[in-house]
Amino acid sequence: MTVITLVQGDITRQHADAIVNAANSSLLGGGGVDGAIHRRGGPAILEECRALRASRYGKGLPTGRAVATTAGELDARWVIHTVGPVWSATEDRSDLLASCYRESLRVADELGARTVAFPAVSTGVYRWPMRDAARIAVETVRNTPTAVEEARFVLFDEQAYAAFARQAD
Ligand code: AR6
Repeated sequence: MTVITLVQGDITRQHADAIVNAANSSLLGGGGVDGAIHRRGGPAILEECRALRASRYGKGLPTGRAVATTAGELDARWVIHTVGPVWSATEDRSDLLASCYRESLRVADELGARTVAFPAVSTGVYRWPMRDAARIAVETVRNTPTAVEEARFVLFDEQAYAAFARQAD
C-alpha cells in the first residue's frame, strides 16, 4: 500500500529514493523546481540529461512522460524528470498531468524506489490552478498500482500545502 504524505518545504532538501523534477521537454534545465534541482544536484544530472537527449529523446521528452537520471549531490538515488502540461483554459489537459504521476511511479517501480518525493507539477511556470492540480495529483497516486511505499508531496508554500491537505484527507 502506498502512503501519501505531505510536507511543506524545498524538494531539494528531501531525503528520498527518488525526487521528481517538474522539468520541460528539453531536459536541459529551467526555473522553479527544475532550476533548484540542477543547482543543488550539480552538473552530473545535466550531463545525464544531455546524454538522454543525444540518445533516446532527440526531440525532447514528451509531455506526460518521465525518465530517470542520477540525483547527483541530492540526498536521493535518482531524479525522475517529468514534463507537465502548460495550463489551458480552453483544452482539458488533465490526463497529461495525471500521466506525469503515473509515469513517474512506473519509472520508480522500474528502479525499485520505495520513497518518492513529488512537487506540485505544472502549478508554477505552467500556471495550473493549485486546487485542481492537487486533486489530480492525489487521485492519480491513490489509483495507480505501484510498489512505492511512500509518495511524499513536497509543497513550497502554505497555500499549496493547504490545497493538497484538503485532497489527502
Ligand atoms: N521545492 C518544492 N516546490 C517548489 C520549489 C522547490 N524548491 N520551487 C518551486 N516549487 P515549477 P511547472 C513549486 O515552475 O509549473 C521550469 O522552468 C512552485 O511554487 O517548478 O511544472 C521548468 O524548466 C510550484 O507550486 O514547475 C519548466 O520549463 C511547483 O513547485 C517549467 O518551469 C511547480 O512549479 C515547469 O513548470
